[in-house]
Amino acid sequence: MSETIQTLLSEERRFAPSPEFAAQANANDPAIYERADADYEAWWKGWADQLDWFEPYHTVCEFKAPNAKWFLGGKLNAAYNCVDRHAERTPDKRAIVFEGEPGDSRTITYRELKDEVSRFANALMQLGVERGDRVCIYMPMVPELAIAMLACARIGAAHSVVFGGFSADSLQERTNDAQCKVIVTADGGWRRGSIVPLKRTVDEALEKGCPSVHKVIVLERIGPDATNPVAMVSGRDIWWSEIVSVQSTDCPCASMDSEDLLYILYTSGSTGKPKGITHTTGGYLTGTMATSKLALDLKDDDLHFCTADCGWVTGHSYIVYGPMACGATVLMYEGAPDTPEKDRFWRIIEKHRATILYTAPTAIRAFMKWGAEYPRRCDLSSLRLLGSVGEPINPEAWIWYQEEIGGGRCPVIDTWWQTETGAMMITPLPGITETKPGSATRTFPGISARIYNEEGMDITPADGSRHEVGGFLVLDRPWPSMTRGIFNDPDRFEKTYWSKFPGRYFAGDGAKLDEDGYFWLLGRVDDIMLVAGHNISTMEVESALVSHPAVAEAAVIGKTHELKGQAIAAFVILRSDHRHDGDPAHLVNEIKAHVAHKIGPIARPDDVFITAELPKTRSGKIMRRLLRDVAEGRALGDTTTLADPNVVASLKDKYESTE
Ligand code: WT7
Repeated sequence: MSETIQTLLSEERRFAPSPEFAAQANANDPAIYERADADYEAWWKGWADQLDWFEPYHTVCEFKAPNAKWFLGGKLNAAYNCVDRHAERTPDKRAIVFEGEPGDSRTITYRELKDEVSRFANALMQLGVERGDRVCIYMPMVPELAIAMLACARIGAAHSVVFGGFSADSLQERTNDAQCKVIVTADGGWRRGSIVPLKRTVDEALEKGCPSVHKVIVLERIGPDATNPVAMVSGRDIWWSEIVSVQSTDCPCASMDSEDLLYILYTSGSTGKPKGITHTTGGYLTGTMATSKLALDLKDDDLHFCTADCGWVTGHSYIVYGPMACGATVLMYEGAPDTPEKDRFWRIIEKHRATILYTAPTAIRAFMKWGAEYPRRCDLSSLRLLGSVGEPINPEAWIWYQEEIGGGRCPVIDTWWQTETGAMMITPLPGITETKPGSATRTFPGISARIYNEEGMDITPADGSRHEVGGFLVLDRPWPSMTRGIFNDPDRFEKTYWSKFPGRYFAGDGAKLDEDGYFWLLGRVDDIMLVAGHNISTMEVESALVSHPAVAEAAVIGKTHELKGQAIAAFVILRSDHRHDGDPAHLVNEIKAHVAHKIGPIARPDDVFITAELPKTRSGKIMRRLLRDVAEGRALGDTTTLADPNVVASLKDKYESTE
């Protein structure tokens, strides 16, 4: 890690916004930072007042850590703000431009979106969904996913979107935790030319037991296919088209309190059980709208291409709620970046003339590896801004992104935030901020971030006495889009985020602050891994491993990976009563498949090392640093020798004698 920090901090390259970009940018006056800092409540009020409220709020903010409330007393509706008000003013403007993986394309205007959202909202009500209920959405990246989210918002039900790559077990756990009444799914989705059998996974989850679920709505995305049989359970399962076709396009927007629950989104926690992160209505819309306008520099004529799936917070905040609160046009792509060829994103940008691209470092590193010939054969001249999110971006990937994708003319914004923060917290403003490759730069106006040390001291240098510091990243002022807590678990919320530094929000990330006051994010400091930008806890993979009949004990670490940022490496001790056919490679593959089946393909370990012992400290804590050295090939040079189960044990001896 210290090597990484040194490379990062020796980064000398600087990129100031071009005068042309600055001149047209939504934010180009550096004084907004001071103005926002001087009175952050007034700053956020200015943004909230750009939303349409049914009834005005009387108080901007009430905060007593860990509980925040914003825009108290105000009544509004997220679907009204993201759909209806644009359907009135700009009915023919495109809301969604959709590109399916097989090459099908569709455009939905704001007027059409309003009709579709209303009809689906009526369908949900017909199935008994009421204000305050939860609805699980387990769908491919098709417009109906956004329609389902907005339909929930319209009637005051909270959605819980579960990423389509998650397994039946994960879906079951999330559905039960949120007590969802209905699951919205599809017969499947396309991914790398194959069908993702979503409905079958829903069936599996329901067979395992989801007592709160009464109805399942199934969108026909794939159609009849011999390899993808779809069984409809009578009385429980309904086709989307059947129930929607009989609905009216009239559906009033529920008048929701600013603090009413808009959605739950599950994220990995270091104790293994996923946390249901909650977001409410007024503050969340305010934060996502403000950051969409100032950081993404979203304008009326933009076509915004965010490559995230709506199963993650990036899709919630920067495909659906933020851009649509601004009345923008978003591009939704269903499939993989290398299908049919490794130029798919560039073909999409060329075809639809996308102007903003918001993607992840793991994708950028894959594009680099595939080679510049793919973007070079496409016309990317429509692009004007590039964004990155999900994990630290290494300077080389940043520079490649800027040169090969941005043609050297587009600003790059590296945006740091979390499911819990709802919206971007640390990001350049592309018309103002001079960027440094690898740094997320400064806090968004109105946000305050500090660096604390292990002893709980704020070590952020006072203004005017700039010097470099490193430690834990802490947010010390409330902001409108902050999570209001973990669904049904206030104690865990307090413990996870608010107790390490009492009264301050502890993000779980390490960071450096340089002499110019720029933040350099260094990754997680807890047991969360960032695998291809996705948050997975070591503990949840360990639980999946020990649920395999051959595994007695397991330890998991994230090892550095060239493309994925981190890859999962697992060390397992086999049960003594376990019988196998003698080929350890066979068992290793079976264990990997078992984890993928339990959690989802994203959690499949790259390596499974069979060992006789796990290195533990005297107090019984697993020595993860040692395992990391082993997995990354440092301790041994050649990890294949690990087939010898005594290796980890002997290494531990060596370590203990040198420590
Ligand atoms: C964790 C949050 C926010 C949407 C995607 C992930 C890491 C996120 C950056 C960045 C360095 C980053 C952090 C954070 N992260 N963006 N620009 N630079 N690290 O959301 O699944 O809630 O994960 O992702 O470690 O804590 P998430």
